[in-house]
Amino acid sequence: MKNKLEAIQKEFSERLSTAVSPDKLEELKVAYLGKKGELTSILKGMGQLSPEERPIVGQMVNAVRAEMEKSLSEKAEMLKSEEMAKKLEAEKVDVTMPGKTKKAGSLHPINQISDEMKDLFIGMGYEIADGPEIEFDYYNFEALNLPEGHPARDTQDTFYITEKMLLRTQTSSVQIHVMENKKPPIKIICPGKVYRADNVDATHSPIFHQIEGLVVDKGVTMGDLKGTLEVYAKHMFGPETKIRLRPHHFPFTEPSAEVDVSCWTCGGKGCRMCKGEGWIEVLGCGMVHPDVLRRCGIDPEVYSGFAFGIGVERTAMARFGVTDMRQFFEGDTRFLSQF
Ligand code: DAH
Repeated sequence: MKNKLEAIQKEFSERLSTAVSPDKLEELKVAYLGKKGELTSILKGMGQLSPEERPIVGQMVNAVRAEMEKSLSEKAEMLKSEEMAKKLEAEKVDVTMPGKTKKAGSLHPINQISDEMKDLFIGMGYEIADGPEIEFDYYNFEALNLPEGHPARDTQDTFYITEKMLLRTQTSSVQIHVMENKKPPIKIICPGKVYRADNVDATHSPIFHQIEGLVVDKGVTMGDLKGTLEVYAKHMFGPETKIRLRPHHFPFTEPSAEVDVSCWTCGGKGCRMCKGEGWIEVLGCGMVHPDVLRRCGIDPEVYSGFAFGIGVERTAMARFGVTDMRQFFEGDTRFLSQF
């Protein structure tokens, strides 16, 4: 019996030494210490022993059992710490490695300028109006005194979706929407995209941005228009800036003017920026044509108004000293991150 126990114990130690996973340990436990295990079967066979032998063998079995349990739990401990060491090694963090930084984006320069102008006009009591970029011919041309066949349409050719629908060429179309839906007093600006069949070069793009302004009320005069534009020019180009109104023709205003500001680079002396002129054109404006008012159900005998249209790209180029408009649309972050 003693020999048998020793053989079992030897076999157990050999198997234990090659067990390398908790599963294998569990297997050994069942095989030797379980209900149908080797030790239990010896205990079951004790009935055949003599009464003197029984307690001795019983003690031996118990000692072997205790020994086996101890070895099993020691081995389990060992496996666990080996596992932990492996895991720590695998998850090792090198705190001296350079960190990953997140690049923060910023507002596009066109949006920055647009937002700045919005803030300025909101500060003067204007509301923001909105209109569709896909527009009816009526709003973009006809209601603005540009009937079919009008020669001034040629300078604003665009993409026609149908005979009567097009990509708007000017935000002036929003004037009509606003006046159809609201009666004076009206004081709005409308920032937005416009489209023209222009070839791309340093100062032209088939898509660009305008800010339209419209004020209609009793007793609005050209003096109000000029004062407003002076505030705009000084705010955008510096407090020393002067403005100059040159007579011009826009079909939807009468009288009309183009507005120049004194050159922000040379202060009006003449330089490369202003091509030696001392002045730079920044917008078109005028007093809303009586026919336009009438068409929208506003009586020109009672009300008058002024309107203006500012080019956002042009203003942004001036402010940031950009000489090629294409850079605003190319999406090159090396350019954009400068603003
Ligand atoms: N819509 C004109 C353009 O794109 C600019 C303009 C001129 C707008 C005179 C106006 C205005 O509101 O009164 O060339």
